[in-house]
Amino acid sequence: MIQLKVVDKVEEGRPFLDYHFIAKEEKEIGLIKEGNRYIYTTPVEKLKDTDVMNLCAKGVKIFRSAKINTFAISLEKFAVLPLYYAIQGIYLGLYEMENYKSDAKETCWDIELCGLDGEYSDVMQQIKEAEEIAKGVIFARNLVNAPSNHLTPEKMAETIQNLFHELPAEVEVFDEKQIKELGMEAFLAVGMTSGHMPRLIVIRYQGNPQEKDVTALVGKGVTCDTGGYCLKSAASLPGVKGDNGGAAAVTGALYALVKNQVKKNVTVVIPSCENRISRDGFIPGDVISSMSGKTIEVGNTDAEGRLILADAVTYAIEKEGASRIVDIATLTGAVAAMFGGVAAGTLSSDDEFYKEFELACDNSGEKYWKLPIYDEFKEMLNSDMADISNTSNGGCGTITAGLFIKAFTQDLPWIHMDIAGTAWTGGPKYEYEAKGATGAGVSTLYYLMKESSEK
Ligand code: BES
Ligand code: ZN
Ligand code: ZN
Repeated sequence: MIQLKVVDKVEEGRPFLDYHFIAKEEKEIGLIKEGNRYIYTTPVEKLKDTDVMNLCAKGVKIFRSAKINTFAISLEKFAVLPLYYAIQGIYLGLYEMENYKSDAKETCWDIELCGLDGEYSDVMQQIKEAEEIAKGVIFARNLVNAPSNHLTPEKMAETIQNLFHELPAEVEVFDEKQIKELGMEAFLAVGMTSGHMPRLIVIRYQGNPQEKDVTALVGKGVTCDTGGYCLKSAASLPGVKGDNGGAAAVTGALYALVKNQVKKNVTVVIPSCENRISRDGFIPGDVISSMSGKTIEVGNTDAEGRLILADAVTYAIEKEGASRIVDIATLTGAVAAMFGGVAAGTLSSDDEFYKEFELACDNSGEKYWKLPIYDEFKEMLNSDMADISNTSNGGCGTITAGLFIKAFTQDLPWIHMDIAGTAWTGGPKYEYEAKGATGAGVSTLYYLMKESSEK
């Protein structure tokens, strides 16, 4: 648990960290400790927002490694920058993966922040907002880090129900029978490969009842992706549990939106299932149907994400009345090959909507890069047997995966986020990351919805 207090003057005797910035040419001095006072000296040319996040994460880690959990940090040197970055840095720097060790225990962090300019109530408001976003990111990390045998689709539904319990958002969970009644055959083709039955999880938040528009945030919730009959190699199998980053992102973002009472109507739709091998599970060459009525030729059972998302998008439009769609998924290995863990890939059908998205990225500090949609790419999904194929016959794996989903969006404004490279890190690149899940997408989705609520 983290307890943050804003103070003018730090409590007597409390360990206290201040930053000292020097020019790039000077030699980095690092950490100096004088009694209870810590000074962290680091070269900074021009302080970017994400540097603040990194430096604050570094700061709390200094205390964590000294086994001090009651301390103060001066934010004086960053005062002109949005507090959001400092708060994310503090929360995410202290994040530790939930573990199943028998001696695991939670630490209580008592932190004072000083050196802040501005009206007290305004500062507190900014801190509260940022704290809820950070909690959303942490929820997302925990969901993705959870082992597949602990986080079945049913368990994911329960976890999400618990998260929104007593909050003004409605959670509805559809079981496999109801999913069948809805006609979600593409979702079921994947979902029925496992003994752990699929769930469709829907969260409705009416932040602005006067407005008719509803934005659907659709997140891939595959709790275990073995590849199915197109079985993954032994080397890539250890990553199978982390295929619910999209579901984690939409849930974490909605949590922050609800807690911060953002005036926007948002419906989260999560198709959650496992992709395993069963004796009558779907195989390459099968032709399956979908909720939209479109038929799909299965080129590869490991391209399961787009199948379940296609039905979830149709559901969002037809049953939830969505007027705009965002989908987010750990969808393709190709995006990780393209951008590594640095950036995620996006596609969009709507320039206006995408402008808002770019603004959201400026606020969140996350990196996304928009990929082109050429007609030639669409043709790569042509099938002789069915309306569309779930694999490309010409490469461009990230773009064609997105375009497969676009085929189900009924030409509504749409943004697609492929976070397969950024949702997980084996070697953290920043102080605010920890090995494992990153919580990618939460903050950008939050700001995307918040901005459009202010228009
Ligand atoms: N969940 C994977 C994508 C993935 C790969 C996520 C690596 C995280 C790390 C997805 O379901 C998948 O397997 N995609 C295939 C598609 C291919 C068979 C067309 C891929 O990218 O190899
Ligand atoms: Zn797969
Ligand atoms: Zn997958």
